[in-house]
Amino acid sequence: MRRHLLLASALLAAFACGTGSPVSPSPASAADAGDEGDAAVDFPAVTLPAEPQRPGDPAEGYRALVNEPYVPCGIPWSAYSKVFTEAPESQRIPGREGRNATLSYDYTAMTTKDGVELVTSNCLLCHAGRIDGNLVVGLGAADADFTRSADDQKNLAANVGLLLSDEKEQAEWQKWRARIDTVAPYSVLSTRGPNPADNFTAVLFAHHDPKTLAWSDTPLMAVPPPHDTPVDVPPWWRMKKKTSMFYVGGGRGDHARIMMTASVLCTSSVEESKAIDAYFPDIRAYIASIEPPKYPWPIDEARASLGRTVFESACSRCHGTYGAAPTYPNRLVTLPEIGTDPVLASGTAQFGPPFVAWFGDSFFGEIARLEPREGYVAPPLDGIWATAPYLHNGSVPTVEALLDSSKRPTYWTRSFDSRDYDQAALGWHHRVLARGKSGETDLSAKKALYDTTLPGYGNGGHLFGDALSPDDRAAVIEYLKTL
Ligand code: HEC
Ligand code: HEC
Repeated sequence: MRRHLLLASALLAAFACGTGSPVSPSPASAADAGDEGDAAVDFPAVTLPAEPQRPGDPAEGYRALVNEPYVPCGIPWSAYSKVFTEAPESQRIPGREGRNATLSYDYTAMTTKDGVELVTSNCLLCHAGRIDGNLVVGLGAADADFTRSADDQKNLAANVGLLLSDEKEQAEWQKWRARIDTVAPYSVLSTRGPNPADNFTAVLFAHHDPKTLAWSDTPLMAVPPPHDTPVDVPPWWRMKKKTSMFYVGGGRGDHARIMMTASVLCTSSVEESKAIDAYFPDIRAYIASIEPPKYPWPIDEARASLGRTVFESACSRCHGTYGAAPTYPNRLVTLPEIGTDPVLASGTAQFGPPFVAWFGDSFFGEIARLEPREGYVAPPLDGIWATAPYLHNGSVPTVEALLDSSKRPTYWTRSFDSRDYDQAALGWHHRVLARGKSGETDLSAKKALYDTTLPGYGNGGHLFGDALSPDDRAAVIEYLKTL
């Protein structure tokens, strides 16, 4: 727990997977109009076509993911080691070299060119999660806690300095602290579970010159005030099938170049970014090679096979087919058709065209584009049993409730223990509450309370399961366990 006090809150704020603001889903540009399956729909879905990706080596990508310092600023080792001992076995992962071998999976050790040893953070802070007690690389961290206030985060970053005497270390700490102070206000959510990464990416862009990537302590373009927009971290194994990145389909062109934007927390030059970019095609190849974990409990095969038939008639046009010769349409469904919470897709959560333009003008824009749209991509449902809660904002605790909207709780809470799994409903055991955040006075209960009446937290839409009979719905749930 102690590590969370010092590092997590500050370093947590440290990464970015931003999407920018939406353009309208015009079938004209890079996208084709939806196929005949949508002929009767007023708002045709959009198919996002594949684009070339730089090839890479998955094994080398895993090595780089868990060893390379692609977020090259952090806490001097001398300060870190005064507070923390080696990570317990349960926090370690295979394939880690040198000092990394005994660090927690979400931290990476590095040495700067001036010889200062640092502990930095890595992608697994948000992209490794637990299910039934097991840590799974690529599963979103659905128990993350981004509710610490900006002032608390800044104080923690400031306190690290008290542990340092060496001048070079002080300089590294000052650099890191300036970045943390910048992103802290944009990395606070009211609710435990969801993730603020989209919020602070744009802020980091605003503090870098797009051409040189030089850091500026003051923003170089206007940034709007912080906002409370929740995003559920998607599992990485979807990238095997997806042609775009992000819920709103905004990440286009070369995915490796987009993924590496997480480094802008720390980088200050194109040269530094090029060195990181050199191995990111390998990391992308690794991410595209990940298989979802298999459902570990018994499955009623006869019922699942009935469910497959129902699924293929009610769901496949958006979510694809599974099995020996899988298909996946890469379909972005517009807001009026999907009806789920509009905040993320309508761009109020992101910072508008200047940030999309920044990306386009920068090193990242050389081979990649941000083209967010007003809708959500229907995701591949591989490993869906493991990725509760559901929808882009994590507003629905189980698949059963997703497929029967009368069962979706308005106010709910959960234990955040990954063994607290509901095999029948497929998702998290949860407690339905009678009142929302405004009626809760206990601070930690308030943070653990998911209030779907708040802007961005809505649990409406995606009513496709309501039309199914109870038997058919149960069969579909059984089938989903097999994916
Ligand atoms: C602070 C948390 C955080 C960190 C750290 C982070 N990400 Fe993400 N990532 C997210 C969130 C949240 C999303 C979903 C954003 C959205 O779709 O709006 C995301 C989305 C993605 C996606 C797209 C998945 C999909 O289905 O569209 C990929 C790929 C990805 N991240 C890779 C990375 C890599 C590689 C790193 C490290 C270099 C990284 N991320 C670091 C939070 C994080
Ligand atoms: C018209 C297209 C469409 C149809 C039909 C459809 N879905 Fe979806 N589905 C989506 C979209 C788009 C999302 C993402 C919505 C969001 O995150 O706001 C989604 C999300 C989901 C999710 C949650 C994914 C996650 O990780 O949060 C599940 C589970 C799901 N659908 C299952 C089904 C099943 C089962 C059916 C058939 C009964 C079905 N869907 C029919 C478009 C569709």
